[in-house]
Amino acid sequence: MRRILAPLLAFSLVALSFVAAAPRAAHAEDTLSPLKFQSQGALGTIDKAAAQRGFQVFSSVCAGCHSVSGVHYRDLEALGLTPDQAAGEAAAAGGNLDSALKGAAPMDMGGAVPPDLTSIVAQRPGPRYIYDYLTGYAPAPAGVSLLPGHYYNAAFPGGQTAMPAALHDGAVTYADGAPTTTAQEAADVAEFLTWTADPNLDAKHLIGFRAIIFFAFLAIIAIISKRKVWRTSL
Ligand code: HEC
Repeated sequence: MRRILAPLLAFSLVALSFVAAAPRAAHAEDTLSPLKFQSQGALGTIDKAAAQRGFQVFSSVCAGCHSVSGVHYRDLEALGLTPDQAAGEAAAAGGNLDSALKGAAPMDMGGAVPPDLTSIVAQRPGPRYIYDYLTGYAPAPAGVSLLPGHYYNAAFPGGQTAMPAALHDGAVTYADGAPTTTAQEAADVAEFLTWTADPNLDAKHLIGFRAIIFFAFLAIIAIISKRKVWRTSL
């Protein structure tokens, strides 16, 4: 039995470190230096504080041109809004809890249509790309000629996009007092869109985590019984 103690102890330590690394309170600074998205990685969880701020960015800035038709006001409760707060957001947008988030109807801008953003994180290389795109505006370098109604953007394939720069410092007022830098706004809306693209991400990762624990215990039991069986049957 003593020989089983060391592996058991080691396993417990590994399990504990997983638990310690699992969901934790969000701090705006953590997402930016270095830029990392809490939702990424095998056990990543949505940073709900960031996603709530991202919803504010979406409604006050992006909704002028884009829709997020796959999300309803009731779904915002999963981000930590109380039913009253979600109902308040819906009422402010002229809808109710069962309405899709208020957004723009499809329109033509410089030959491009602002896409529905519900699944954009899945349709593009991920939240980091969304962040890079939103912060990728710059004056066009010498020698680059822009198409009419287009703006230079280093992250966009081809280097020019029909979407004008949407974010700037102070573009929103955050309810939680987080800094309203362009970078913070971009990181937050990217986390919000990670959630809209995969609202069950947290549940899936939790199941994965429980499966790891379950199979680890199963392995330990298998080792113990193997030793017992082979000792007595000699
Ligand atoms: C003034 C209108 C307008 C606003 C405001 C706006 N967008 Fe856009 N957006 C567009 C248009 C037009 C396109 C299509 C660009 C293209 O294909 O060249 C687009 C494209 C995108 C894309 C897809 C880029 C790609 O790789 O194809 C993303 C992501 C995006 N917008 C996110 C946002 C977010 C997030 C906000 C709010 C912070 C926002 N947009 C605000 C007009 C807008």
